[in-house]
Amino acid sequence: MSSDSIKSILQEHRTFEASAAFKQRAHIGSQDQLQAMHAHAEQDPIGFWEEQARELSWGSKWDTPMQWNYPTVEWFVGGTLNASVNCLDVHVATEKRNKAALVWESEEGDVRTWTYQQLLADVNRFANVLLDQGIKKGDVVGIYMGMIPEAVMAMLACARIGATHNVVFGAFSAEALRERMDNSGAVCLITQDGARRRGSVQRLKAVADEALAHLPNIHTVLVAKNVGNDIVMSRGRDHWLHELMAAAPMKHDVQLFDSEHPLFILYTSGSTGKPKGILHTTGGYMTQVKYTSKYVFDLRDDDLYFCTADIGWITGHSYIVYGLLANGASVLMYEGAPNYPEKDRFWDIIERHQATVFYTAPTAIRAFMSWGEAWPRKHDLSSLRLLGTVGEPINPEAWMWYYDVIGRNKCPIVDTWWQTETGSIMIAPMPGVTTMKPGTATQPLPGIMADVVNKDGSPCKPNEGGYLVVKHPWPSMLRTVFGDEKRYRDTYWSHFEPCDKHDGYYFTGDGARKDSDGCFWIMGRVDDVVNVSGHRLGTAEIESALVSHAEVSEAAVVARPDEIKGNALVAFVIVNANVPTARKAELPALLREHVAAEIGPIAKPDEIRITDALPKTRSGKIMRRLLREIAGGGEVTGDTTTLEDHNVLENLR
Ligand code: WTA
Repeated sequence: MSSDSIKSILQEHRTFEASAAFKQRAHIGSQDQLQAMHAHAEQDPIGFWEEQARELSWGSKWDTPMQWNYPTVEWFVGGTLNASVNCLDVHVATEKRNKAALVWESEEGDVRTWTYQQLLADVNRFANVLLDQGIKKGDVVGIYMGMIPEAVMAMLACARIGATHNVVFGAFSAEALRERMDNSGAVCLITQDGARRRGSVQRLKAVADEALAHLPNIHTVLVAKNVGNDIVMSRGRDHWLHELMAAAPMKHDVQLFDSEHPLFILYTSGSTGKPKGILHTTGGYMTQVKYTSKYVFDLRDDDLYFCTADIGWITGHSYIVYGLLANGASVLMYEGAPNYPEKDRFWDIIERHQATVFYTAPTAIRAFMSWGEAWPRKHDLSSLRLLGTVGEPINPEAWMWYYDVIGRNKCPIVDTWWQTETGSIMIAPMPGVTTMKPGTATQPLPGIMADVVNKDGSPCKPNEGGYLVVKHPWPSMLRTVFGDEKRYRDTYWSHFEPCDKHDGYYFTGDGARKDSDGCFWIMGRVDDVVNVSGHRLGTAEIESALVSHAEVSEAAVVARPDEIKGNALVAFVIVNANVPTARKAELPALLREHVAAEIGPIAKPDEIRITDALPKTRSGKIMRRLLREIAGGGEVTGDTTTLEDHNVLENLR
């Protein structure tokens, strides 16, 4: 095999189908229906997306559906709309007016509900407050908040007046906040006094103050009152949100904006360098988040949809706020930690509210597994009808556990592959009809032309590992890296430039293979591919083999330079809480053999380190770059602002 291809060694043969009852009620309930959608999208991709766009409410209609000037795209050019109108006003005009839009539970257990009508009234007031503070169309507004309803209102209020929001995850440091505000040129910051997390209070306003000391261009700070902790207000600049909202009118004359008007910037960390401000615009983004929410979550009017992502991530943007509300769904939002007061908080929430759809991340599922199945088994989870995952490849063991222990063998699982950059889901099962296999996000959705290719852009053969690319622009594609068009081109569009063989592909940064059924197996970031004795191995597969061992709950595999093999594999492994200390000493040798037995001796880690925790980003992604540096015995350099817990690094050294 050529050294450019990525060797894929993991094999999984179990398959699962939705039940007849699920199929019968699904939006897409037959293969014929799905194939017809695919056929339409392949013959006329732009017409297909126009059909999806017509599901939104527009002021003036677009005159050009798509304008593609490699690598710059515009969708629905000339059309006007307002994202918040599509999330609120369109439903208030129907019998959904008094339906719950948002059901919120605080960490302390208080529950508050907003109907569509009530949410519209509050968003209108909020929009009027922003206008009154001199915020106008095109301004960038920072949002540094926890999981409280005001965060959703803040996003929708920005969208309503045409301000571009820039949400920064509420547990990021003052420096991370400062950098993201500065880089985006924000003029206003919306924050809150404090957020509850695992029984204690995160003092968001105090952290924001540290950043604000270096942000002279932010002239207005709005503070939502949540915990009631003491804060310092800077006179003239800082205001209590509830006071201004109480005085603001609930009527607001809404304006419509161009389809390509910037809706938000969201920073995402790269493996090297500074975080990138991913820019999304309005019409295309709203089209695709609405379409994917409806079909992938197979939304029904009586659903209560629970997503555990934070709104500081793209998942929160697309699948708590914009996609779900655009469909008039009821969204359940929880403020706090999954293990507070006990490790069954999510299951308790699902049972009490009778949630029907649950969307979380593999890292969370592995944590639930390590806590033991007694916690979910204590609860009646029979209201659930669909489960989802996002964020990284789900190892088949975790998939099976999720299917059995949470889904009670009756809920389809939608393993959804997408990125901050793609804006919405790209590869996922259609839950009524797609045959599921644990560990694969299955196939691209109708309208998405993804493929796995070699370095020269030629398609890979079945089961041959390669680079995951998208061959045709899609509506919710990022438009640029804010303020850095060169980085946009270099990162996403320089690997497969137009040539005599093709018109240029978007490079996702992920490695993948397609199996003989056309299912996509994501092998992780190509930065996480290691070359051992001339074989390029996806570390995700080796990790999956490690966690398939009964005593292991989590694993990360990286390479360190090795004179003989080129690279040696180092595995950092977390074992289950109930594994005795003496046993921990025996495990490394056993685990090496386990990997050899699961996937072959070539993948056997040279070194296994048992550890208590792994360095992760706030969204749960393991920061392999840091582990590589530790494994190689070097100093940790580069950006660590996205690291969740700095103590983890100390302990690993
Ligand atoms: C990874 C999250 C395998 C992938 C929405 C991608 C996945 C990156 C999956 C984007 C999945 C996300 N299976 N890998 N279902 N979903 N990824 O920007 O490497 O936080 O490129 O967006 O996560 O992460 P981001």
